[in-house]
Amino acid sequence: MAIQCLNARKPALGPALIALSLGISGCSRGVPAPPSGVLDSRQAQQEGGVLYAANCAICHGTSGDGRGLRQAGLDPPPANLTLPPWSEEATAGETFLAIRNGVPGTPMASWPTLADQQIWQLVAYIISFKAH
Ligand code: HEC
Repeated sequence: MAIQCLNARKPALGPALIALSLGISGCSRGVPAPPSGVLDSRQAQQEGGVLYAANCAICHGTSGDGRGLRQAGLDPPPANLTLPPWSEEATAGETFLAIRNGVPGTPMASWPTLADQQIWQLVAYIISFKAH
């Protein structure tokens, strides 16, 4: 199950190995594990916050509750990112994939312009919503 998979954290590796492990992933469902320490990093959360304000707040709202300026008429409506599973560290890999790949058939686009590191910063920021 996803939780076990995500708990199997990789030890700190060089960036190349992390990229490799994200690509292949030891997890049978292909859910990537966050690079060590990123979710608790203040700096990652702050940089994620800048990316979020620029790209995501328009739909998901500045506080992540799904009430952004563009929410009206979106079907389905933007997810409330302050609630599980998105607020849960254990599902960080699923959140990563939702941002990386988007949600087909919904207004949630994929984000090919964001580097993996930037997506992890976004995930760190989203998880930090509940602390605000
Ligand atoms: C055009 C509006 C829009 C923008 C911009 C947008 N989203 Fe979304 N997002 C949505 C909608 C609509 C959904 C709900 C999809 C669903 O219910 O399946 C969603 C869902 C999600 C989800 C949950 C995925 C799921 O399966 O429901 C995450 C995580 C997410 N968005 C993160 C982000 C992040 C991070 C950004 C910025 C990089 C972003 N979104 C930008 C509209 C948007």
